[in-house]
Amino acid sequence: MLMTTKPMFDLAYDGGFGVGAFNVNNMEITQGIIEACAAESSPVILQISKGARQYANIRFLKHIIDACVEEYPEIPIAIHCDHGDTVELIRACIDDGYTSVMIDGSHHDYEENVRLTAECVKIAHAAGVVVEAELGMLGGIEEDVVGLDAEEYQKNIEKYLTDPVQAKDFVERTGLDSLAVAIGTSHGAYKFKHEPKLAFDRIEAIMKTCPGVPLVMHGSSSVPREFIDLINKYGGDMPGAMGVPEEQIADAVRTYGVCKVNIDTDLRLALTAKIREIFATKPAEFDPRKYLGPARDAIREMVKRKLRVLNSAGKADAVVARWKELGEPLPVYYERRAAGV
Ligand code: G3H
Ligand code: 13P
Ligand code: ZN
Repeated sequence: MLMTTKPMFDLAYDGGFGVGAFNVNNMEITQGIIEACAAESSPVILQISKGARQYANIRFLKHIIDACVEEYPEIPIAIHCDHGDTVELIRACIDDGYTSVMIDGSHHDYEENVRLTAECVKIAHAAGVVVEAELGMLGGIEEDVVGLDAEEYQKNIEKYLTDPVQAKDFVERTGLDSLAVAIGTSHGAYKFKHEPKLAFDRIEAIMKTCPGVPLVMHGSSSVPREFIDLINKYGGDMPGAMGVPEEQIADAVRTYGVCKVNIDTDLRLALTAKIREIFATKPAEFDPRKYLGPARDAIREMVKRKLRVLNSAGKADAVVARWKELGEPLPVYYERRAAGV
């Protein structure tokens, strides 16, 4: 069932679970994710980056997601824009039927981040769409914005983490619905050089200054060892890849107010590892279904495990019930679509 993230976060904040926000770029990735959610009865956020819109053509991706909604009516699904960077892109996502958008002004100076975010919140709320915004700096690569080098980031981490006092001001002045925080994670497959560690004390401090505000953790792939080993075994070259340990992710969603957990890299790794393995072990294979099919299965199994770590497995019915209880309409786009305009 299509919805905004509101009922998901309502339950997740106090309910000791987080909703997985998985990046979708093609049919097999999307199917692997939704099959896992159906198997585990879990709510899900399907998120689309600017790069994904361009790669797949948003009309194709949107129809694939519409098919998920039709095929799995019992699964709560939100369609989310990942790292939107301009008002124009946010407007386009709203016009395309997203139920949630992220405006990421974290690379601007603070006042500009506030201004841009507040403008997007106004536009999105008028259309019935919820908004995530970011404060603080993540390492790695954020969309088009080249982020910070992993080593430099970890070395000077204190200066990049979200400031709890500024966060309160940011929430109040923008009217956002959820806050993406920098707490030591970074995008990509090389998150830590040494011991991986999230800044839980910082999350706690943000929860004190911003009580009840759903927090979002970007860069939350765990970079499973088995995928890296397979990739390296079959011709890949990813030495030193390291992600966020699953126990720390479990802690963030169970003990703290982290309601949305972003995962893209692990999907890429599952797909790449399986395809590399098949190409290496069956060099005569040239039917795409024979390697994309197993890659889709690998994604499904990885996501199933992740949903248990996030403790969102089994929460689908409760989220649907909460959405019905809220009685909120879907975004304006869907009213227009139903009316045929
Ligand atoms: O945070 C970035 C996501 O992994 C999306 O990556 O912009 O390459 O699609 P992308
Ligand atoms: P990962 O690179 O850790 O998967 O993070 C993805 C992300 O934050 C998308 O917004
Ligand atoms: Zn991100």
